[in-house]
Amino acid sequence: MSAGATGDTLCFFVNGKKVTEKHVDPETTLLSFLREKLRLTGTKYGCGGGGCGACTVMVSRYRPANKSICHYSVNACLLPLCQLHGAAITTVEGIGSTKTRIHPVQERIAKAHGSQCGFCTPGMVMSMYTLLRNNPQPSLEDITQALTGNLCRCTGYRPIIDGCRTFCQQEANCCQLNGGTNSGSKEENPEETPLLFDKSQFLPIDHTQELIFPPELILMAETSSPQTLTFRGERVTCVSPVLLEELVQLKTSNPEAPLIMGNTKLGPDFKFKGVVHPLIISPIRVLELFEVTETTHGVWVGTGFPLSEIWAILKKLCRQFPEEKTELFRALIQQLRNVGSQQICNVATLGGHIMSANPNSDLNPILAAGNCSVSTISSGGWREVPLNQEFFLSFGKTVLRPEEIVVSVLIPFSRKGELVRAFRQAPRKECAFATITTGMRVLFSEGFRVVEDVSIYFGGVGPKTAKAVQTCATIVARPWNAETLSQAYEVLVKEFDFPPSIPGGKAEFRRSLTLSFLFKFNLEVLQSLRKMNVIENIVVENMEPLPGEIQLSQQHFQHVSKGQSDQDPVGRAIIHSSAISQATGEAIYCDDLPKTDGELFLSLVTSSRAHAKIINVDVSDALLLPGVVDVITAKDIPGKKTRMFSGYDEEMLAQTQVSCIGQIVCAVLADTRAHARRAASAVNISYEDLSEPIFTIEDAIKRSSYFEPRRKLERGNVEEAFKSVDLVHEGAIRIGGQEHFYMETQSILVLPVREQAEFKIYASSQSPTSVQIAVSETLAIPANRVSCHVKRLGGAFGGKFVKTVILACITSVAAWKTNCAVRCVLERGEDMLITGGRHPVLGKYKVGFQKDGRILAADIQIWTNAGNAVDVSIFVAEKILLHLDNAYNIPNLRGRAAACRTNLPSNTSFRGFGVPQVACVIENLISDVGLTLQRPVDQVREINMYKGPSLTHYKVEFSPENLLRCWDECKAKSDFCSRRIAVDTFNEQNRWKKRGLSIIPIKYGIAFSEGVMNQSAALVNIYQDGSVLVTHGGTEMGQGVHTKMQQVVSRELHIPMSKVYIGETSTNAVPNTFISAASFGTDANGMAVKNACQTLYQRLEPVRQKNPKGTWESWVSAAVMEKISLSATGFSRGPDSYIDWDKMEGQPFPYFTYGVCCSEVELDCLTGDYRTMRTNIVADVGQSLNPSVDIGQIEGAFMQGLGLFTMEELKFSPCGLLYTRGPSQYKIPAVCDLPLSFNIHLLSDSNNPHAIYSSKGIGEPTLFLGSSVFFAIKDAVAAARKEVGLSGPFSLDSPATAERICLACASPFAQNQEKEMG
Ligand SMILES: Cc1cc2nc3c(=O)[nH]c(=O)nc-3n(C[C@H](O)[C@H](O)[C@H](O)COP(=O)(O)OP(=O)(O)OC[C@H]3O[C@@H](n4cnc5c(N)ncnc54)[C@H](O)[C@@H]3O)c2cc1C
Ligand code: FES
Ligand code: FES
Repeated sequence: MSAGATGDTLCFFVNGKKVTEKHVDPETTLLSFLREKLRLTGTKYGCGGGGCGACTVMVSRYRPANKSICHYSVNACLLPLCQLHGAAITTVEGIGSTKTRIHPVQERIAKAHGSQCGFCTPGMVMSMYTLLRNNPQPSLEDITQALTGNLCRCTGYRPIIDGCRTFCQQEANCCQLNGGTNSGSKEENPEETPLLFDKSQFLPIDHTQELIFPPELILMAETSSPQTLTFRGERVTCVSPVLLEELVQLKTSNPEAPLIMGNTKLGPDFKFKGVVHPLIISPIRVLELFEVTETTHGVWVGTGFPLSEIWAILKKLCRQFPEEKTELFRALIQQLRNVGSQQICNVATLGGHIMSANPNSDLNPILAAGNCSVSTISSGGWREVPLNQEFFLSFGKTVLRPEEIVVSVLIPFSRKGELVRAFRQAPRKECAFATITTGMRVLFSEGFRVVEDVSIYFGGVGPKTAKAVQTCATIVARPWNAETLSQAYEVLVKEFDFPPSIPGGKAEFRRSLTLSFLFKFNLEVLQSLRKMNVIENIVVENMEPLPGEIQLSQQHFQHVSKGQSDQDPVGRAIIHSSAISQATGEAIYCDDLPKTDGELFLSLVTSSRAHAKIINVDVSDALLLPGVVDVITAKDIPGKKTRMFSGYDEEMLAQTQVSCIGQIVCAVLADTRAHARRAASAVNISYEDLSEPIFTIEDAIKRSSYFEPRRKLERGNVEEAFKSVDLVHEGAIRIGGQEHFYMETQSILVLPVREQAEFKIYASSQSPTSVQIAVSETLAIPANRVSCHVKRLGGAFGGKFVKTVILACITSVAAWKTNCAVRCVLERGEDMLITGGRHPVLGKYKVGFQKDGRILAADIQIWTNAGNAVDVSIFVAEKILLHLDNAYNIPNLRGRAAACRTNLPSNTSFRGFGVPQVACVIENLISDVGLTLQRPVDQVREINMYKGPSLTHYKVEFSPENLLRCWDECKAKSDFCSRRIAVDTFNEQNRWKKRGLSIIPIKYGIAFSEGVMNQSAALVNIYQDGSVLVTHGGTEMGQGVHTKMQQVVSRELHIPMSKVYIGETSTNAVPNTFISAASFGTDANGMAVKNACQTLYQRLEPVRQKNPKGTWESWVSAAVMEKISLSATGFSRGPDSYIDWDKMEGQPFPYFTYGVCCSEVELDCLTGDYRTMRTNIVADVGQSLNPSVDIGQIEGAFMQGLGLFTMEELKFSPCGLLYTRGPSQYKIPAVCDLPLSFNIHLLSDSNNPHAIYSSKGIGEPTLFLGSSVFFAIKDAVAAARKEVGLSGPFSLDSPATAERICLACASPFAQNQEKEMG
């Protein structure tokens, strides 16, 4: 180790500029360096663990061996800075900017409406950009593959894919795709079909314009002889040798020091488990780890290759050798396609993968089944070790000695008579660790009559990759026939022990998957044997993989009227006003604000007990750590220590008692985030446990633990009606909670102005006024000293209201106490732990109906799990009851709703505010009626739908005409009737795959039922040059409210949108506003903005009359000269909604938004895997103010609903700790979950007198339509159950995960494994 005390100098390039760093801390990631040191904040921090893609950048390296340059996308959050010597980094800022020229990728994603909140956009841009650098004309599959690891919570992915697919050659030639995929229906004249975007206007891609690889780095690689590099940090030293001998020496003297390669295992261990290694060794420059050697037995592949290169090497070998020899290569290729994301595979190495010895590894089972071995070196010399059941000892442990280095892996050629396959099932199709993963190999003796050798390995069956030894012994030396296999299943079912406590749970599902995979292998072997004419007379079902090819989609909306002026943007598909700056990384979010002098970082300390007395908070260890300044406790709060919601006080910092794991107890202040976080984990809190905590709704019911009041709504005479009906059925459904998973975590920056106790707060808040008022009360200062500013939010979905207020108060106390600027940005895990989400619901119902399907009575009880604090839970329960009828006229209807008080983190507002849950209960009830009567469920829905002039269950008159129009149009657009027949035919022809179809309506009340909240204000200033600055009460969180407000101003003042700017939302410009929520932002603020504009336009009337032919600018100048005020406020006093709970009537909503959705799925009954084949939505948004924004809201909400009802599953430990605290454990929909054909149709000729320009609120209503996928799955499951003689209603809770689906299908493998197999 030659370097001095400070270590060596690191040299690399960022966006064409040389960076030389003298003091590189090995703990520093590229992401924190870019954001904090270089102030390149375009690259975002979303999770820190490689799971979201927000931090994607491109790394380029020169390879002297073949004089080539390679480019690959990486997660900057996992990449240690010290690994970058000699590399060139390109960030989103490096490829284009609004100041120079935007890059075509940035332009196309933005203009195709692929950026809403924009927090994911730079990552998307960089994944796509890297793909194009390597492959200028990618296929659609290349694009979806490149974007696997990039999550977006807003758009639903369709517009991102549509923007990106314009780079595909075949799309460029496709005349149907004239601007997006908006082709309208076939019979329509394309000229009359308005387009979402016009791709003919796009900049062409010109690869000569790209940044070149720095010649200096080429020279450095060609001429200088590489030296060992050493980097020393505060706690960790990293040594990067060049020679194998030196590596061996280092490892011999430091056997416990890990080898750092892709850092995709070590990085998360460090970050999430706090594992610190004082020394790490980086062998990424040791050439022997990057060699490929062919032998007669197979190919030795260096362990330093990243998985993406292993994939490319194997692909090449498959082309080079006959099929017979490449069985194992092909199975590996298939499995590699599913490991992690593109970014992960670009850095994760084969050696790191094997040595991580992850029991859920996808590669280890197939490598082991394929008879691979590893070649290792240590001071004792070389040795070859087989990768078999003895190799893997337990999680993270292998038989190798700590000092041994794995240099290469032998991947053998397959032999004649050998078949190799791999299967996996994961919570999400892509970028998710498998629940069960397997590699299977069989070798037949001459003539394929007898099994000579068989090898079956599983991952996910216990603490290590394991061989099914007894099962293999049952098969070997026997013919491959039904009898052998039947015995093999019987042995396999007993071979692995799946205790209920197995890490990750799902014991029964895991067991059934092992059997299903053996069955699938059997089908594949039989197919092969048939092809070779070894067996005849056996019909073998061909289990093709589920379809995956994304089709062209349609987005259909109405043209503006012929008479509308060209300059008037209302009703046109205008792009989100900051889409371009979001795509270039220039858009600023709260944590992108530059650090101020002396700024401190605040890290929270939370309770580790669900229900306990706090005995002592010991901060002494924390205070001794470097950089720590102070600890904030409740005692430091100068004003109100609690916030009151619905009559219940909630402590901001717990003082004497905690009531959930994750409750905030105190907060540590330090000079950097790393120091603050380390110190927070050093705070010791001792507790005394209190009486048994309550976690479930069932326990809360048993112990009568509720937040009061409980609510009830009723119409008709339910009891009497039950007496007269033909049939009565009782059922129940559970709907799990949901994490908001906004891409930007909660962020707050408080700046004390140091004069008269004045504070400026920048917050990721949906409700700046709530922050302002709460902070002023907490600090005991008047509200006029506190201003809250919100530029934009990286998504919110209801989650940045109550919780942000509490966080802002705590951060303000810290700023008040220290007189320093204080920043608090939650880690993804903290955010998920602390801030709660959508309320889980238990719905029980009794329904009375006639044989013809008419429902005459329903009695429904809904319980929500509110958590430890009331938050908005009472309002959620109320909204649940107000939507109890969904679209159905049930004459005798009773609903009761209760918010259960439990010891879980308190749940809060979430898009839809309880409506998706209650509507799902109702639809399940309808589905049960259909299944009981054996009638198509869509008919039962139709029979019971509101028709003609109607009255809701809270006695409000309305016309369901547009609901029925949506229903009819959706049926027509989705070809429902013919597809019903096609689905049934498919189901008759397939035993193990089933299709399902459903059509689901929603009737959604817009605005707050609490009238006071339906108000807003705006301030419009016209400046002397004619430019206009608008501030209004709405916050921009991706939903496009600022864009719509610009459209309003443009129409009202008759000026182009380019003259209108919306800077930020701030309480000092527009006071006393309410939260942007309830799909009411445009309605409320649009009216206020319009009001202000009309005042101004009126004021300009005299100057306009004097100079009717003048320009806008001339009128403005004249107005200034004539002393006319060019600043006006506007106000909207929205509807005085109310509901009288005693009388059970009121006028809670001014109008309804309607929608209907039809979805079709294909299901693999053996694994529970499914694919949404097609979705058609018809939505009534009135006269859309901006169809591209509205369609974006519909698609994004649908996908969030799809996540809620089919994927997103929160898991808690038995003591109430949330397990699912990041994208690795909690799966939101990714690109792979997009319906293959996703079609949106806005109902034409719909008017709404209650909202601006006859539009309708749309942010929330269509989230529920994601349940159409749930009910399509249910339809497919019903078909699967029919195969085993089961009919009638059955239970399927939400989310319909693969586990629930598979078990509900009741296949012989899932049910009673010892019977019926074979
Ligand atoms: C977001 C994410 C998603 C993922 N998804 C999947 C998935 O779907 N399926 C799946 O199977 N895996 C998945 N993984 C795991 C991933 O494949 C492994 O983390 C990765 O292969 C480890 O390689 P690495 O180079 O990053 O190892 P590192 O983190 O650099 O090192 C890991 C360990 O290997 C040791 N090591 C590395 N090289 C050698 C060597 N040559 N000799 C001896 N010891 C060595 C190190 O000492 C260290 O202990 C995922 C990981 C992440 C972060
Ligand atoms: S922040 Fe890097 S992947 Fe999420
Ligand atoms: S636009 Fe993708 S996360 Fe918001």
